[in-house]
Amino acid sequence: MSATTPDSHGADTQAASGRGWAVILAAGKGTRMRSKLAKVLHPVLGRPMVAWPAEAAQAAGLSVVLVVNHQEDAVRRAMTGRGVGFARQEVPRGTGDAVAAGVELLPESGTVVVLNGDGPLIRSRTITRLLDVHAASGDRVTVVSMKVDDPGSYGRIVRDEQDRPLRIVEASDASAQELAIDEVNTGLYAMDIAWLRSVLPNLVPHPPKGEIYLTDCLELAARGDGAGALVLGDPSEALGVNSQVERSVAQRILQARIVDGHMRRGVAFEDPLNVTVEPGVTLEADCVIERGVVLRGASVVGEDAIIGAHSVLESARVASGAVVLPHSILEQAVVGEGAKIGPFARLRLGTVIGRGCKVGNFVETKKAILDDGAKVSHLSYIGDARVGAGANVGAGTITCNYDGFSKQRTDIGAGSFVGSNTALVAPVKIGEGAIVGAGSVIVRDVPADAIAVARGEQRVKEGAAGRFRSRRKTKKAGK
Ligand code: UD1
Ligand code: CA
Repeated sequence: MSATTPDSHGADTQAASGRGWAVILAAGKGTRMRSKLAKVLHPVLGRPMVAWPAEAAQAAGLSVVLVVNHQEDAVRRAMTGRGVGFARQEVPRGTGDAVAAGVELLPESGTVVVLNGDGPLIRSRTITRLLDVHAASGDRVTVVSMKVDDPGSYGRIVRDEQDRPLRIVEASDASAQELAIDEVNTGLYAMDIAWLRSVLPNLVPHPPKGEIYLTDCLELAARGDGAGALVLGDPSEALGVNSQVERSVAQRILQARIVDGHMRRGVAFEDPLNVTVEPGVTLEADCVIERGVVLRGASVVGEDAIIGAHSVLESARVASGAVVLPHSILEQAVVGEGAKIGPFARLRLGTVIGRGCKVGNFVETKKAILDDGAKVSHLSYIGDARVGAGANVGAGTITCNYDGFSKQRTDIGAGSFVGSNTALVAPVKIGEGAIVGAGSVIVRDVPADAIAVARGEQRVKEGAAGRFRSRRKTKKAGK
């Protein structure tokens, strides 16, 4: 058991196991995705698909075991650190066989919830309700069903004369009469662990493929100690992803849930259907998210901040009242209160922008600290550098931080003024309050309050332009 719960969240898993266990089936290939990547690893809003049902189960207080086979190593790697255990199904021989592999890791008794790894839309509150209904009924199996207009390839729920669920018949095995049933199996169940363990060896393979169906458990329970069904109110929760089309549908539904939640807490979206907001993002009330914005990872946007159209934040933090103008890209950068960024700015890893700073168009920063009120307004590269409070860095200024071998630092003092198109060849320091003339190439430190100019002298020859032109004209006429 210890070998199968290998990650640092093992302790949490134990603590959370109060309500029971979840076995998530994720051993299948997912052929219809037409992809070299295992289906359950396809990303849905920045997370592997199978992480969604796993988190829903954990949020309902369950310890999770994933049943793996296809691309087992990749699945294990992608899910490491998420507090789940793994069980190996040696050969995928059907859902009954998959659950048998998972059950080996469970305790003697208690309740297990079975979920599909390709169902990212299931809500934790539905799992909680299933556990409540299952516990109250005393049934051995409770299946979650739903009513659909087009039952398609889902298993049909056959009920007896008293309207109790009797068995599940797969579409491929169903009679014409059974195919007409509009109540179908979602693939989500709660079961008694000890009972399940006792009946699994009795399940028989179904021709022609010899698959072992978990669904056969329902009939065994119905004919014995009792089986129940919980009919799902919102069928979208049970949407199984089998293709890229279905993945995109699932992602859109999850995105709408997340964006709706933010709007209910006071966030303004200019176009709620045209944004990406990953689940780990924090948005404070009264911030404004414009059209086409992409917010990924652990990004945070503070109160009254505005994120301009088509900007991308990758785990970036934007403090309250800051404005990010359109088409800016912030990669793990931090932006202080009231600062103004962009349009078309790129703030890379290790950028920390102070309060009230301005970083304008076509400015790139990397490992750059801008103290409060500093300004870099146009067309600059500021890397491995500090810009002191209130300093003004002119258009086109470049910190030459790389000598071809290693990175060197630039320090621009508080209140200094760096003229346009200056090259600051690192390592170099501009003292507090110093002024650097435009077009300089600065290779040595500039003391505080000094003026440094490092460029070719300008020579002026009075009347020389006229003389030059007339010389050219005579030459042309002569030939
Ligand atoms: C299953 C149900 C069907 C239900 C449907 C809901 C059975 C026999 N049928 O059908 O009644 O309506 O789900 O979506 O259970 N898997 C394994 N190992 C295996 C086989 C499958 O881990 O050997 C996993 C798959 O990766 C998948 C899940 O189990 O995540 C469901 O398997 P799938 O083959 O898609 O079952 P369905 O035919 O959809
Ligand atoms: Ca399926």
